[in-house]
Amino acid sequence: MAKALSSFVCQSCGAVHAKWSGRCDNCGAWNSIIEEPAGIPASGAKGASLPKGRSGRLVGLTGGEPQPPRIVTGIGELDRVAGGGFVPGSAVLIGGDPGIGKSTLLLQALAELARKGHRVIYVSGEEAIAQVRLRAERLKLQDAPLLLATETNVSDILATLEEDGRPAVTVIDSVQTLWSPIIEAAPGSVSQLKAASEALIRYAKQKGTAVLLVGHVTKEGQIAGPKVIEHMVDTVLYFEGDRGHQYRVLRAVKNRFGPTDEIGVFEMSDRGLAEVTNPSRLFMGSGQHATPGAAIFAGMEGTRPLLIEVQALVSQSVLGTPRRTTVGWDSNRLAMILAVLDARAGVQTGMQDVYLNVAGGLKVREPAADLAAAAALLSSLTGTVIPAGTAIFGEIALSGGIRPVGQTESRLKEAQKLGLKEAVIAASSEVPAVKGLKIRTVESVADLVAWAASQARGLSRIA
Ligand SMILES: Nc1ncnc2c1ncn2[C@@H]1O[C@H](COP(=O)(O)OP(=O)(O)O)[C@@H](O)[C@H]1O
Ligand SMILES: [Mg+2]
Ligand SMILES: [Zn+2]
Repeated sequence: MAKALSSFVCQSCGAVHAKWSGRCDNCGAWNSIIEEPAGIPASGAKGASLPKGRSGRLVGLTGGEPQPPRIVTGIGELDRVAGGGFVPGSAVLIGGDPGIGKSTLLLQALAELARKGHRVIYVSGEEAIAQVRLRAERLKLQDAPLLLATETNVSDILATLEEDGRPAVTVIDSVQTLWSPIIEAAPGSVSQLKAASEALIRYAKQKGTAVLLVGHVTKEGQIAGPKVIEHMVDTVLYFEGDRGHQYRVLRAVKNRFGPTDEIGVFEMSDRGLAEVTNPSRLFMGSGQHATPGAAIFAGMEGTRPLLIEVQALVSQSVLGTPRRTTVGWDSNRLAMILAVLDARAGVQTGMQDVYLNVAGGLKVREPAADLAAAAALLSSLTGTVIPAGTAIFGEIALSGGIRPVGQTESRLKEAQKLGLKEAVIAASSEVPAVKGLKIRTVESVADLVAWAASQARGLSRIA
């Protein structure tokens, strides 16, 4: 008896379920499960024994051909996130919200490559040739000798790529428009997304072309998100940023050919995405910290130190349940810091609304930011200004102790490079000396509270 050729697939995470349900128990998304016709089954019925295979060649660990050189776009922020340029024959997924700038950045990258003499192809399934040309004109790239195609059928795309000479780099914009003629399901479904991407990734490996796949991140099911193909590609880059800010961060979350957690920072302008080579200046704010509640966190993003302003506002609540609102910050982490301040240093915020915001639309994920957040909260609560030019970092433990964090020296050097004068960090055996930077160590949140109080006294003496 042949089984019905359909399955229930979550469009958010790709999990296959035996029956339909309103909520995917794999990823928790609601209304994301859709019935899809199953793909073409592999030859042989289920349970049949495997045909006898041919034996492969066994080789040692050394030897092999030298790696081909990387394909460098010249857009430094992009090349660094990719691990030093794109690797020939690799598949890269570039995900992000619609409108964040994926098409813009990739058109710019291809134009740079084309001007250097690489054969590159931009396949757009979303925009007509005229639209892509208009964008190129707006970005002043129309002279670049790159090739365009508008195809969505994977077989046609593969035939087009081979037409006259193999491209060094191909952009597919976007994977959600692709469809493979051997799959019955609709374009944008998990089966189509997987089958079409797989065909392109296989092409990349066989022909040595770097294939860059664009994927939109979707909030609500319906069309499958790039998560579904993350495991199939070599490198996964996500474009982050707030539509309200002109800054965009490209972050490597997986890379078989380079470090992860590396970021590239761009600024959106009418000429496209411009590299921001000194992002600390950007996220540090104006440097005029005349208001209470602002603290500078000396963070690390991959191999790169980054100074980021953390802003807190603590105010009397008029609500029964005070508000806790965060932007760019984990709300559980804020709750923990408030609890530790209360339990270990007697700082109470139970009746206050608390807002915590990271400047510039950036997201901070490092526990090392705890101390800066605590300092900003104390500063707002007591109305004391943290002196401009103070960098703060350290992780807060539940005990109230401050733990030292990695790459202390890089963080301090960045602070010094940007003209800061003082750093407040965890006490530890190895505090590197950095010229021109006064270092103050704190062992516990109680020490931090004492430091904040001493700042307040210092100010009132001057006043
Ligand atoms: N014609 C235009 N003039 C000015 N800005 C534009 C124009 N078209 C797009 N943009 C800007 O570029 C941003 C990025 O667009 P795009 O690269 O198409 O994003 P994505 O490919 O990620 O959906 C848009 O949000 C918009 O702010
Ligand atoms: Mg686009
Ligand atoms: Zn799911």
